[in-house]
Amino acid sequence: MIPGMSGDPQVYLNGEFTPLSQAKVSVLDRGFIFGDGIYEVVPVYGRKPFRMGHHLARLRRSLEAVRIANPHDQAGWEDLVGKLIATSDAPDQIVYLQVTRGVARRDHAFPADAVPTVFGMATPFAWPGAELREQGVRAVSMPDERWLHCEIKSTSLLGNVLARQFAVDRDAVETVMFRDGFLSEGSSSNVWVVKNGVLVAPERNHLILEGIRYGFIQEMAAARGIPLEMRKIAQAEVEAADELMLSSATKEILPIVSLDGKPVGAGRPGPVYAQLRQSYDEAIAALARRVG
Ligand code: PDD
Repeated sequence: MIPGMSGDPQVYLNGEFTPLSQAKVSVLDRGFIFGDGIYEVVPVYGRKPFRMGHHLARLRRSLEAVRIANPHDQAGWEDLVGKLIATSDAPDQIVYLQVTRGVARRDHAFPADAVPTVFGMATPFAWPGAELREQGVRAVSMPDERWLHCEIKSTSLLGNVLARQFAVDRDAVETVMFRDGFLSEGSSSNVWVVKNGVLVAPERNHLILEGIRYGFIQEMAAARGIPLEMRKIAQAEVEAADELMLSSATKEILPIVSLDGKPVGAGRPGPVYAQLRQSYDEAIAALARRVG
């Protein structure tokens, strides 16, 4: 049994669907040897992928950035995601997609003729429960020790893994990272600040992954008339925030109510979070209603 996995779902590997227990890649796969690959995480509600076009566009950008040939066109990816959704009975799922540079003799330089390894898997989506949504989560902070191409959704995630464990070791849900004294993002989420009714996000650049929820929250804020600034955010501003939030495919949008043991604002989810949460839930409900 694989720790944390229940059952033996069908997964996709290099053109075939096979039980997870049978899906094998070579130890010389460059994903295994070098972390030389990229990935995507697409949430599915009511068996409908949410903002799939955005996820596939980011997948394309990641592949281009690391110079791996895109193994599928848009229709091919959409078809694959549809087939992955069909492997599970769960209405809400997380679809994981990964492409590595493939299998070759170990050499840092790109192999001349390796064929990319393509893996896909759908798992039931345990979205954040009412307690997390209504009471918020604890976060801790640490310096951002990752490389300088955080805009690429790369499987080389050691920096993110260590940052996430830093939170777990301190009984927190997320680690908020600062590079040179300015907010970058969470170990596996984007981070949002609210001060005096203004929503503030770090600007989109190579220091953060542009979450698909980044653009979505931007749209929701505009629709609700919440002012949004995208700029460098000093650590002191984060520490003095009225509200903090995190966003990701798996965490959706969650209020951070304490940072490094100190309450954020009033120490409970704030009004800007409440508005964004409502918009998020409405968007999901609208998507799920389209089923059947
Ligand atoms: N991670 N920043 C980082 C470093 C992330 O790993 C993620 C998501 C995000 C938010 O992106 P999005 O809104 O597209 O999920 C930001 C996914 C969920 C993961 O690695 O599992």
